Amino acid sequence: MFKKDFVWGAATAAYQVEGGYAQDGRGPSVWDVFCRQRGKVRDGMTGDVACDSYNRYKEDVALLKDLGVNAYRFSISWSRVFPEGTGRLNEKGLKYYRDLAEELLKNGIEPYATLFHWDYPYSLYLKGGWMNPDSSKWFGEYAAAIGRNLGDVIKNYIPFNEPQCFIGLGHGSGTHAPGLRLSEPDISHCTHNVLLSNGRAALAIRSEVSGAKLGFASCGGAAMPLTETEADINAARDWMFRNCGNWDNRMWVDPMYLGIYPETLAENLGEPSAEDLKIIAERPDFCGINIYQAEVVKADENGRAVSAGHSAGHARTSMNWPITPDCLYWAAKFMYERYKLPIFVTENGMANLDVITPDNRCHDPQRIEYLRGSLSGLKRAAAEGVDVGGYFQWSLLDNFEWAEGYNERFGLVHVDFQNMKRTPKDSFEYYRSVIKTNGEGLNS
Ligand code: GCO
Repeated sequence: MFKKDFVWGAATAAYQVEGGYAQDGRGPSVWDVFCRQRGKVRDGMTGDVACDSYNRYKEDVALLKDLGVNAYRFSISWSRVFPEGTGRLNEKGLKYYRDLAEELLKNGIEPYATLFHWDYPYSLYLKGGWMNPDSSKWFGEYAAAIGRNLGDVIKNYIPFNEPQCFIGLGHGSGTHAPGLRLSEPDISHCTHNVLLSNGRAALAIRSEVSGAKLGFASCGGAAMPLTETEADINAARDWMFRNCGNWDNRMWVDPMYLGIYPETLAENLGEPSAEDLKIIAERPDFCGINIYQAEVVKADENGRAVSAGHSAGHARTSMNWPITPDCLYWAAKFMYERYKLPIFVTENGMANLDVITPDNRCHDPQRIEYLRGSLSGLKRAAAEGVDVGGYFQWSLLDNFEWAEGYNERFGLVHVDFQNMKRTPKDSFEYYRSVIKTNGEGLNS
């Protein structure tokens, strides 16, 4: 059973949906610049217009209302509010988020704001970005300004989305903005500064916003057992918390929830000061997980965790990600066991080759099946005592899927990028029916 006050939501992010890249004084972010470099994003696509949600937010809120969600997770574009990242505040940019939050509240939808979903202000990148020792102060000031100016209408904050990706892909492999390939010690500096930024933002929001609720959206590698034997279950748990690399939960989640400084960082940078560690360990109120799939793991003959892989022809999404319906059950369970905080699925969904058919509809049975599987797993976790607080489907709209451009469609609503026409897909109806009954019809 899901709780009576279960948070049913959908999610998006600023650069992926807003467009309006030069409207009302927005400053450029690293993604604006990255998209303009040849060969970085599929077919040279950009988020310049995206879903044009900057101008069509009322239409999008009406869709959310129709969907029946009671929460919407969106992100704030830092450089829309502070065009240079620090200093001068852009009132028009700020007003957009006030208008959006007010429109949501008017429709009975609770705003959940991500403060940073990868669109780093380009001016700050030119000053060294996350490498700069002042970077956590810049982020703390930005968070404080948001709390001070919008804290009356936005109570729920997620300072960071998936630092695993913007550090690993943006600063490691260079496949995402800003396209850097830094050395491991330099990446450790960035990681330390992001952890510190998260703590500073949490402190700032807590002092500016009464009744604030804070989370974090991690995508640390999820694992699930091949069989429900004790040996495989233990192997999957070990896998999920197995090392301390960039993609692991222990790098990003242990520090803030358990106050444990990552050993990889200590090796590269030395032990942190007591003051830094205290800030880093500022504990969020809920544990957000972005889970799309899990590694299937088994115990080998020595009890060690090994990947079990997938059999030939295993179902996949159009991103070529394997479909593993039980991933939410196991991820929620393992994360709750370790961190003992309410679990919020901050993202879950699938990309599909969706088309509009002659009946002007978009039939997406694969996504319905994906949602049914994910939500049933989550319900099972709740039934077995995991404190599951909410679920945000990724995504409300088809949108700009980073280096993949617009080819990958994750939405519950189909978007025709030629004319911005929004068409709710069959999965929209399905999700609405699940929400209406608080998941009653799902198996657990
Ligand atoms: C991420 C981001 C989203 C993506 C989604 C699908 O996880 O990469 O949070 O912005 O669009 O996850 O890949």
